[in-house]
Amino acid sequence: MSDRLYIFDTTLRDGEQVPGCQLNTVEKIEVAKALQDLGVDVIEAGFPISSPGDFESVVELSKAVTWPTICALTRAVEKDIDVAAESLKYAKKSRIHTGIGTSDFHIYHKLNSNPDAIIERAMAAVKYAKKYVEDVEFYAEDAGRTGNEYLAKVVEAVIKAGATVVNIPDTTGYCLPSEYGEKIKFLMENVKGVHKAVLSTHCHNDLGMATANTIAGIVNGARQVEVTINGIGERAGNTSLEEIVMILKSRYQALKIETGINTKKIYGTSRLVSTLMNMPVQPNKAIVGRNAFAHSSGIHQDGVLKNRENYEIMDPTDVGINESAILLTARSGRAALKHRLELLGFTLDKAKLDEVYDEFVKLADKKKDIRDDDIALLVGDATRKESRIKLDYLQVITGKSLKPMANVRLDISGEKFDATSSGNGPVDAAIKAVKQIIHRQIVIEEFLVQAITRGSDDIGKVHMQIEYDKTIYHGFGAHTDIITASVEAFLDAVNKLPVAE
Ligand code: KIV
Ligand code: ZN
Repeated sequence: MSDRLYIFDTTLRDGEQVPGCQLNTVEKIEVAKALQDLGVDVIEAGFPISSPGDFESVVELSKAVTWPTICALTRAVEKDIDVAAESLKYAKKSRIHTGIGTSDFHIYHKLNSNPDAIIERAMAAVKYAKKYVEDVEFYAEDAGRTGNEYLAKVVEAVIKAGATVVNIPDTTGYCLPSEYGEKIKFLMENVKGVHKAVLSTHCHNDLGMATANTIAGIVNGARQVEVTINGIGERAGNTSLEEIVMILKSRYQALKIETGINTKKIYGTSRLVSTLMNMPVQPNKAIVGRNAFAHSSGIHQDGVLKNRENYEIMDPTDVGINESAILLTARSGRAALKHRLELLGFTLDKAKLDEVYDEFVKLADKKKDIRDDDIALLVGDATRKESRIKLDYLQVITGKSLKPMANVRLDISGEKFDATSSGNGPVDAAIKAVKQIIHRQIVIEEFLVQAITRGSDDIGKVHMQIEYDKTIYHGFGAHTDIITASVEAFLDAVNKLPVAE
């Protein structure tokens, strides 16, 4: 007998809280549709009271998604719940996710309250949300550091008030797997009416235990898991969807738990999220990292050639990794590119495909080995092309005993501006020239350069954080020329600044 586990994806809410990972509504719809194809049961679409942008995203995602439940987050505050309900009005299936802190830290030092008053507020919030929707999830924030006896009282009270799902977050990623598993077991055994609701895990990865804690929760009776693609999320992130799903698939005989996920869509969804959020996946990331299925030592290679299962516990094609299917070169046509893009989770209209194809041909002329990461970057570039300030021309003179000089031309809303500057190095010279044109007091706070695949013909990726008027803005650029990538990253951040009067 197997059990069904519900997958609640919070990439667009908890995941999107990461600085620099914010998506616009169109990008969120793209991710939501990919999550729907992947087969998630619930999509947490945002925290509608937090900003007009979040509100609009929940509205638009509700319209765009057909079958997964759309969920909106609130605090245990009536106004939050009113706004969440309003944002969900187009959802075919909707859920309000409300809650409050239950640990002593939260009760006494954040909410200035006491345990009985918190239970009253929790019940009142659930009852209030029930006026709008049947499906109400309650979260006991910092449940990981909440005593089990008190937590059981809270859970019992909210189920009585009508909660259909109760989320037990390890908000700070503090629990050991044995403790988290014990917590879920305690609730399953001690909460009256527990079977009227589903218990949910929501584990953060501060100590690298999110996946282990989530599995411990499942083993002890939780039947919903809150996860994100690539494990993205604040600080060290959330439990990653792909790890949980592939543990359940690979260890089915031990766990006997099923999900509705189409595992072949995992890799494509991972690439899509990584590209749109400008968040690289670490090469050794389980399941979706570049090296996750790469055997480099001679002994392993020999073993895999004799029989894959000597060293592989999963078939890479099960997660949608099928790199060698069609090799892309400068001679590949649009159809081959389109096919590869679809494998990677991108469905482009004809105009966008033409634009990406033109860039692909230029890149393939410069770089013989076109990889999935390169293609994903071209799609990201095409999306950024609509920016107000664009780099029109860049020439840099640099060398061992030369003072670096840069000539830059920017296109600002269709008008061209030129500047020349010297600098400490070529990037410094180019950025100084850009600053001469845009006349803003900008400080570069962080500048990160990465090569994404290998070889001297590789594409360089640049992440930049700039500070303007006490606010931080993030930018991203990618190019085979690292100086161009740096200027593009700088301009990507500058394009997010409020437009000067
Ligand atoms: O980590 C957490 O506690 C949360 C809740 C708001 C669900 O994200
Ligand atoms: Zn969280």
